[in-house]
Amino acid sequence: MAYRQVLLGVSGGIAAYKAAELTRRLRAAGAEVRVVMTRAAQAFVAPLTFQALSGNPVRLDLLDPAAEAGMDHIELARWAELVLVAPASADLMARLAAGMADDLLTTLSLATAAPLVLAPAMNQQMWRHPATQANARRLEERGVRLLGPASGEQACGEVGLGRMLEPAAIVEALISAPAAGNLTGKDLGHIAATEIAPATETAPAADDLAISRPTASPLAGRQVLVTAGPTREAIDPVRYIGNRSSGRMGYALAQALVGRGARVLLVSGPTALPAPAGVELVRVESALEMHEAVMGRIAGQDLFVATAAVADYRVADPAPTKIKKGQAELTLRLVRNPDILAAVAALPDGPFTVGFAAETERVEEQALNKLRAKGLDMIAANRVGGPQGGFEREDNALTVIHRDGRVDPLALMPKARLAEALTDLIEEAYAARSATQDS
Ligand code: CTP
Repeated sequence: MAYRQVLLGVSGGIAAYKAAELTRRLRAAGAEVRVVMTRAAQAFVAPLTFQALSGNPVRLDLLDPAAEAGMDHIELARWAELVLVAPASADLMARLAAGMADDLLTTLSLATAAPLVLAPAMNQQMWRHPATQANARRLEERGVRLLGPASGEQACGEVGLGRMLEPAAIVEALISAPAAGNLTGKDLGHIAATEIAPATETAPAADDLAISRPTASPLAGRQVLVTAGPTREAIDPVRYIGNRSSGRMGYALAQALVGRGARVLLVSGPTALPAPAGVELVRVESALEMHEAVMGRIAGQDLFVATAAVADYRVADPAPTKIKKGQAELTLRLVRNPDILAAVAALPDGPFTVGFAAETERVEEQALNKLRAKGLDMIAANRVGGPQGGFEREDNALTVIHRDGRVDPLALMPKARLAEALTDLIEEAYAARSATQDS
């Protein structure tokens, strides 16, 4: 591990119990761990648990003469090579965002020169609250890195974004090869033997783990328009032609982009998914509606990410009333839909464009052709029809191809993590393009 001395801050929340396993996993990855608990955290887990698991005394108070006589808080702040707060409650994030130093953990966070990484955990409504979102953005703009939260069932019985990432995912997310800079998808590439390798076989050994240093995202404050989901092309008032896209990849990407401080507008075909926190959602049905929604809002967007599975054809003249099964045969005449991605990429002074491609064979070659034909900055290709991911799946693998022909494979992983890795690559390529335009 690049960072061998990890200061683990535990704040108050039911997820505090997961910090026990996190301590164990960080130690297994080779780090020495010292734990600092807030007062509220002590209501959930006893300090003795962390003392036993970390093998070090647990610090609780700023003004504790006995503890300060050992390693005082300034020494502790200097000792840390990484400060990781998991779980990070809404209250703790607010205090950190305000730069307060009203307890030991916030004081250490101010007094340290080490990178600060937070794993937020809270009720989904608290996470969605504009105050928390603003605090999250403010912290990220200052270089604090947020891991998660994840979405799912919560201890309070509600469902949504706010769960702390699992300890294994936190440790894995802290993996990175370079000594500086954010974890990038390219770094994940080294664990991708092939694009179809199962994740379990490609997981890195604990000794390879390196913890990344956070930096402010070049996407902070940028406007991003994302398309997602399938489209429905009406045959008559009750029937349509659709496809198997669940929208998960696009929604996860929208969420990851919000996590980098971007302002995200999501134009989505029909899905069963809730609007991701902090995203403005416009729902549409057909390809023509999606085209209109996108073209009407594209001015002023800095990036355009087309994950939607847009129908290439629509029914030429949908029946105004329900078609009755009178005839033995029925022929539907289809006409081409406009290509939304190509239209956006062709705009003068248009946004940085990222397309997706679903291919069953010669994935790289066909994706590169698509990138060139549509004039994209980047394309993420997805092998479909095989066992390794794609539509209606929780996991996916991607091959990302850049304008200059560079290829970054992203290994099979859950879509939320894949979205983070892809966002890393978008961030990098967008920053590189902005740099060449500025010079
Ligand atoms: N796309 C779009 N508008 C369309 C069709 C596709 O914006 N009418 C976007 C998709 O969101 C995706 C990419 O274009 O980002 C997919 O490219 P496309 O050439 O449509 O892929 P396929 O439909 O798979 O093409 P083909 O059938 O020719 O392989």
